Amino acid sequence: MTSQKPIILLIHGPNLGALGRREPSIYGFDSLQDIEDLILTLASGLNIEVKCFQSNHEGEIIDYLFEHGEKSNGIIINPGALAHYSIALADCLRSLPCAKVEVHLSNLFKREKNRQSPVTAPACDGVIMGMGKSGYHGALGFLVEHMDLAGIEQG
Ligand code: DQA
Repeated sequence: MTSQKPIILLIHGPNLGALGRREPSIYGFDSLQDIEDLILTLASGLNIEVKCFQSNHEGEIIDYLFEHGEKSNGIIINPGALAHYSIALADCLRSLPCAKVEVHLSNLFKREKNRQSPVTAPACDGVIMGMGKSGYHGALGFLVEHMDLAGIEQG
């Protein structure tokens, strides 16, 4: 019998494709590829498949989530600025049954007031912010533990 690997989606919203060269004093020097590579490497050691997706367009992210989210065992999402205003993305996340973690590289509580209205975060199980790239590592750890508790075998 072949057992299918669990699937985790790694989703990035607007402007995150420019990581590494976009305001490095806030977001650091790692590119999106660096972050994706980190998670792909960690996950492959755990026998988990990761599907990466980035878009600057709210609707494309929602389409992708509806296409892949129901067949996935977990979602790590950095929605970028959509986190602060997209009720549409929050509704989409809420409709997906798997565990979800929202990650922000920067600590939103140290930033402008308009970044402190959580719209998508309440649709997720957990939120990690201000830990840079390490936040993704933590999000993966949470999802793996969640899968263990749910009895989902890796690989
Ligand atoms: C961000 C924080 C958002 O406020 C911002 O719009 C981003 C990046 C972060 O990772 O810190 O694009 O999500």
